Amino acid sequence: MGKVYVFDHPLIQHKVSLMRKTDTNVKEFRELAKEVATLMGFEATRDLPLKEVEIDTPMCRTKVNMLQGEDIAIVPILRAGLGFVDGMLALVPNAKVGHVGLYRDPETHEPVEYYCKLPVDIEKRKIFVLDPMLATGGSAVAAIDFVKKRGGKDIVFMCLIAAPEGLKVLEEAHPDIDIYIASLDERLNEHAYILPGLGDAGDRLYGTK
Ligand code: PRP
Ligand code: URA
Repeated sequence: MGKVYVFDHPLIQHKVSLMRKTDTNVKEFRELAKEVATLMGFEATRDLPLKEVEIDTPMCRTKVNMLQGEDIAIVPILRAGLGFVDGMLALVPNAKVGHVGLYRDPETHEPVEYYCKLPVDIEKRKIFVLDPMLATGGSAVAAIDFVKKRGGKDIVFMCLIAAPEGLKVLEEAHPDIDIYIASLDERLNEHAYILPGLGDAGDRLYGTK
């Protein structure tokens, strides 16, 4: 059974609050997205396995812990998930990066798939699926379906803001995954946007509106 982790760290709360503000511009929004991804990633990578290796320090030979291998995949959901990639790569620079392209149909709010390219050995990797927004949950469920169909097993989902409705949908569809959320908001509005939320994450990252 996966766990749900809602961050209470003051730095994360502060940065997410800045991202919500209408007058936070594209440059600031992008920088904040990267910073929050790194802060969240620090916790989300807590369970990465270590191995003991022998090294020489200037003083003596000793045994130390190091990461077991370069066995991580980062999978942003296009397009807004891209805003989290650099922040995660700052922590795990050797991770492979896959992409899943989905957008929500503006009328039905159902996810429409247009792209999927994942590392060939995805089944061996710990996979971090990234998307700033978990609204109805449709996009996250579909992206994780993609990843599982291609063999992915050990999956974590990371988002900035989740609506309770989307969290429930995701937990029911994929009860095995861990979910990391910077802020669990109040609810969806009639257009399936999160309240209070931050608006359209893709538009805010790329200045398209
Ligand atoms: C946003 C967001 C998620 C999705 C969440 O993407 O980045 O992928 O909506 O909504 P859901 O939980 O109801 O599926 P959007 O469809 O706006 O596409 P974009 O990133 O290309 O702008
Ligand atoms: N997608 C977004 O970018 N924002 C929302 O509030 C909901 C879906």
